[in-house]
Amino acid sequence: MTSSPTSSGNTSSGNTRGRIFSGVQPTGNLHLGNYLGAIRNWVALQDSFESIYCVVDLHAITVAQDPAQLRQSTREVAASLIAAGISPERAIIFNQSQVPQHSQLAWIFSCVARLGWLNRMTQFKEKAGKNRENARVGLYSYPILMAADILAYRATHVPVGEDQKQHLELTRDIAQSFNQAYDVEFFPLPEPQILGSATRVMSLRDGASKMSKSDMSDNSRINLTDDRDQIAQKIRKAKTDPDALPSEEAGLEGRPEAQNLVGIYAALAGSSVGAVLAEFGGMGFGDFKPALADLSVEVLSPIGDNMRSLLENVDHIDHILEGGAARAEAIAAPIIDEVNEIVGFLGRKS
Ligand code: TYM
Repeated sequence: MTSSPTSSGNTSSGNTRGRIFSGVQPTGNLHLGNYLGAIRNWVALQDSFESIYCVVDLHAITVAQDPAQLRQSTREVAASLIAAGISPERAIIFNQSQVPQHSQLAWIFSCVARLGWLNRMTQFKEKAGKNRENARVGLYSYPILMAADILAYRATHVPVGEDQKQHLELTRDIAQSFNQAYDVEFFPLPEPQILGSATRVMSLRDGASKMSKSDMSDNSRINLTDDRDQIAQKIRKAKTDPDALPSEEAGLEGRPEAQNLVGIYAALAGSSVGAVLAEFGGMGFGDFKPALADLSVEVLSPIGDNMRSLLENVDHIDHILEGGAARAEAIAAPIIDEVNEIVGFLGRKS
């Protein structure tokens, strides 16, 4: 009854390449951190894997959202993914709420995961802050829905930035625990793919905090919607230290802002930190920042331009998301049918 995934990532659809699932929240503009930590890798991996990329609107409502704004952001994020190079034909792009299997599996996983596991999640602690009693239950159980997202497709690989690592460990714990509880080898243990030299892009205003959509200061991040002038100005204003760049990587130790900007340059150039320092070592930020600004404009501004032109035809975006959702559901539905049977739910006969 239960087909088991093999180490090569075969799944019930007969796919032999392995299957990717990853997601992004529609809670505002995508920024350079999202791009370098995740989306750029999604683009690069879309032909080597069967790829499913999801705009996670169910996750977005774990904090208050204006409904009209949520709809708009969902379209904008979908447009950014396409503008960044994800092909809606080769990959599947859809928004999470259109595929009910995510929520169904999340409930089953809430009956597998343990309170102690969720209590360890650092992102909940950060987001809930001091007022934990007032935090929404959905914010707390957020990582369970994330496990359901991935495992509803029996995905084998999950490209993400470093901040998602703990959530993926929990996903593996849930998969293993389900398999053990029901004595099956049904779910694979998905591999996080944390790739490149910018897996944790830091704020441009503070090298100690992560670049994030929720930072009050817009100068802390480069948005994929920023125009050329905004991009260049934000780099010009980025916090730095007074020293010249070192020639070796070890010299970046204890210099978080320098480390961040060099890491961003390396990632945008498709090069390595060592190679960037070999080129710029000994130069001050007065020379390095204009080079970084030019490179950022060159790589990022076409994405913003593409995105704006895609958004001129909202119906087209909606059509892509609907088609993606139908393809996603065609994969997830038989998997959830099998899960229901494993768990012992009496299903419809026809
Ligand atoms: P989200 O929307 O916060 O971010 C989307 C992706 O961008 C990466 N990222 C970063 N990478 C490097 N530096 C940064 N400053 C930075 N900020 C964000 C994130 O690591 C992520 O890969 N919980 C997820 C969404 C999600 C998901 C999933 C991901 C829901 N279900 C299933 C993978 C698989 C989130 O909030 O990502």
